[in-house]
Amino acid sequence: MRVRSTTRPVALAAVLAGGLAAGAAKPDAAAGKVVYDRECASCHGGTGKGDGDDAAYFTTKPPNFTDPAVLPKRSDDFLAAVITEGGPSKGLSKDMPATKLSAGDIKSVVAYLRQLSGRAKSSK
Ligand code: HEC
Repeated sequence: MRVRSTTRPVALAAVLAGGLAAGAAKPDAAAGKVVYDRECASCHGGTGKGDGDDAAYFTTKPPNFTDPAVLPKRSDDFLAAVITEGGPSKGLSKDMPATKLSAGDIKSVVAYLRQLSGRAKSSK
């Protein structure tokens, strides 16, 4: 079977990153995945199950993002705050570090988290 390449994620992310820098682009889960794989997967795991290589070192384990009991109860603002300011900003563990991502990257990574948890969008 021949697999046709449709969208090239890296090229797409580059285009989006440019758009986000200009403050124009919408949150995009594909761009969020690029950020996630780079910044988050070491702890949260490649598929968001909380089983990244570094997770073993933490007393508080990263949650399973694919569990419907985890992310759907959180608002986008909650997720953005935890990702921007770290776990303690919302009463979670300091093992969830603050990040230096741009506001656009944060939105995209939140969109990707929603995708991991099986929901395209927050209802809030
Ligand atoms: C150094 C390891 C580490 C890295 C890197 C990391 N996290 Fe976390 N994260 C954690 C841990 C541990 C928790 C659990 C905190 C708790 O439950 O008290 C957590 C919790 C979270 C939560 C809260 C989930 C909830 O509602 O209970 C979100 C959202 C999150 N991380 C997103 C991210 C994103 C997005 C990135 C990348 C930009 C990232 N994390 C990078 C370790 C990490």
